[in-house]
Amino acid sequence: MSLSGRTLLVTGASQGIGLAIATSAAAQGARVAGVARTISPALEAIGAHPIAADLSTPEAPAEAVAQALDHLGGLDILINNVGAFDARLDGFGAITDAQWQHTFEVNFFSAVRAIRAALPSLLERRGAIVNVSSIRGRFPQPATADYGASKAALTNLSKALAEELGPRGVRVNTVSPGPTRTPAWESEHGIGATLAAANGSTVADFLSAFPAKAGFNTGRLTEPDEVAALVLFLASGQARNINGADHIIDGGQSKTA
Ligand SMILES: NC(=O)c1ccc[n+]([C@@H]2O[C@H](COP(=O)([O-])OP(=O)(O)OC[C@H]3O[C@@H](n4cnc5c(N)ncnc54)[C@H](OP(=O)(O)O)[C@@H]3O)[C@@H](O)[C@H]2O)c1
Repeated sequence: MSLSGRTLLVTGASQGIGLAIATSAAAQGARVAGVARTISPALEAIGAHPIAADLSTPEAPAEAVAQALDHLGGLDILINNVGAFDARLDGFGAITDAQWQHTFEVNFFSAVRAIRAALPSLLERRGAIVNVSSIRGRFPQPATADYGASKAALTNLSKALAEELGPRGVRVNTVSPGPTRTPAWESEHGIGATLAAANGSTVADFLSAFPAKAGFNTGRLTEPDEVAALVLFLASGQARNINGADHIIDGGQSKTA
């Protein structure tokens, strides 16, 4: 499953799942470029080519892809991992147009635009795309209505793309994680902090009780490197007959067969 010598662009690469993907890909010998608004020391430390860009803007994804193509000489693998999510605890009516728009720009349109820009190179190299979606795309909840809708759109698009691009040699799959222990959950400002405050709890206490309450039958949140391993397997030659699939990694939280 070696990625040795392959070129890979991952979005949302400065921390969390994206950083775990960049780190593991680089360790496997891939030449990696990573995009985020702020380039973290951790991303620089693994030797990835850093690209600073706000992917919520219409031009940024194509510009980031152009920079990656310039630096790497072509793209074998595109991982659309960037995502933004927060809990909307005041109900559907309180989610503003601006919030809906931002959620879709970051979670959906950034991928649309990056794929469009990377496609000529991916077709030439018979490459692979992995889109990081979410179980909320399949199992909606009111507190993440806009987020879940954007991820459902991303999963749906991935299937359509797999149909179109599979015969032309490019595979497209999604990975749908459940709650994963990243700064989005553990930091003072993320969804974990919002939910902890709503429950009158600290982030640490909320997260230790959460797996049992939310029905994770493994008893714990997913780790970023576990999502990265699944993403990079799907990007690798070992998965060469897997196309148009959506793979859940959620500690057994989702209950349908
Ligand atoms: N963690 C979970 O529980 C979970 C569950 C299911 C799915 N997911 C999905 O997995 C992906 C990664 O999640 P995560 O938990 O690792 O997120 P995270 O810890 O919040 O990290 C998000 C990454 O994206 C970058 N980013 C955010 N907005 C950006 C923008 N507008 N332009 C460019 N970069 C931007 C951030 O860096 P900057 O802030 O420097 O830009 C950071 O590198 C997302 O698509 C998320 O929806 C996560």
